[in-house]
Amino acid sequence: MAVTLNTSYLGSFITEEDMAGIKPQIETAAKMLHDRNGLGSDFLGWLNLPTDYDKEEFARIKAAAKKIQGNSEVLIVIGIGGSYLGARAAIEFLKSPFYNNMKKNTPDIYYVGNNINPTYLNEVISICEGRDISVNVISKSGTTTEPALAFRVFKKLVEDKYGKEEAKNHIFATTDKAKGTLKELSDTEGYETFVVPDDVGGRFSVLTAVGLLPIAVAGCDIDKLMEGAAKAQKDYTADFDSNDCYKYAAIRNIFYRKGKAAEMLVAYDPAFAMMNEWYKQLFGESEGKDNKGLLPTSVIFSTDLHSMGQYIQQGARLMFETVVDIKKPKQDFFLEKDEANLDGLNFLCGQNMSVVNRKAQEGTILAHTEGGVPQILLELADCTEFSLGYLIYFFEKACAVSGYTLGVNPFNQPGVESYKKNMFALLGKPGYEGAKAELEKKLGY
Ligand code: PA5
Repeated sequence: MAVTLNTSYLGSFITEEDMAGIKPQIETAAKMLHDRNGLGSDFLGWLNLPTDYDKEEFARIKAAAKKIQGNSEVLIVIGIGGSYLGARAAIEFLKSPFYNNMKKNTPDIYYVGNNINPTYLNEVISICEGRDISVNVISKSGTTTEPALAFRVFKKLVEDKYGKEEAKNHIFATTDKAKGTLKELSDTEGYETFVVPDDVGGRFSVLTAVGLLPIAVAGCDIDKLMEGAAKAQKDYTADFDSNDCYKYAAIRNIFYRKGKAAEMLVAYDPAFAMMNEWYKQLFGESEGKDNKGLLPTSVIFSTDLHSMGQYIQQGARLMFETVVDIKKPKQDFFLEKDEANLDGLNFLCGQNMSVVNRKAQEGTILAHTEGGVPQILLELADCTEFSLGYLIYFFEKACAVSGYTLGVNPFNQPGVESYKKNMFALLGKPGYEGAKAELEKKLGY
């Protein structure tokens, strides 16, 4: 299996009785998911997606990716939250966090519309100057402020550069199949469109066109990504006792009930940093509601051992760690001995750097366990598309089962609306006049 749950460090933190106690609840949650009769069951399109997806659209995604690779030096991906994180996470993990600076025959990729910072936007615009660009605007609703605002800017930029007719060869929209502002605009302008399925929420959408088009443009093998996810889909229908995905969901809930407030996702590879962000959205938006839920947090080690390490070792005992233990790094580096050995580091040399990283990992796991921070290990076979697809599905299904076990609807995000209402009111959006005065009073205007 591309992902293996290793619970050998959990020792006394989780007992066999704990597992036996929660097992029926996990089984009920999994049954609810498969029977499609739990909360939010309209949004279960991701469950069978790896084996049940639109093959015709998949072929169009590949063709569009080729076209973009052929006519563009830069791809601008416009989207926020679930319409952005998965693609970036996959590209940085599979290729490199330095993807844009690598020698390659695929376009650089920049992500906009995931914030409203003017400096960020200006900087990306200036990077595009004099370069051939394409745009993939991604928004399921088609009305999200951040990407809509950015798309206005890049639509004009592309039209000014190529003219309205040729712009159609440079703008690709991923949105609802039938409705919404972006769909209407795309149909009017004649852009090629891809679909965010009705029954797939943003944070579960990385294996739809939302993630697949940018990932394919970056030169990653999306067939293998889907194959990995399909294998996980099959493997994770197994019974609890041989289902690592269900066991992970169980352990999370046991820790929550024992009073842990946070899960910290850990990787010893900086290329995993955006996967950490993707995981935070997946679990945060799915479980953080009704005043419940583990706070999803993340670190990259050994980097963050020099910032968060002190807290983890000796601060409030509020978290457990889930370590994504990547068994085979993409590359290794042989450390040569130095005759003078002035820094005294020759004891590290004559071996690959991955060995040093692994010893750091092993040492940290033991130290944190000693310090009262339980360690779950998710062993990831390698950094291939297949394994990543497998891992993505592992987390998605674990999240759904974990959420149902927690007693929440893992597929809605009602809380996200609150900031939007306030922002629209303060900006004077028609229809929000009453709230504006009230909010301005609170702000002391
Ligand atoms: O998971 C979610 O549903 C959200 O993060 C959305 O993906 C995000 O808010 C963007 O929404 P949209 O794709 O409608 O622009």
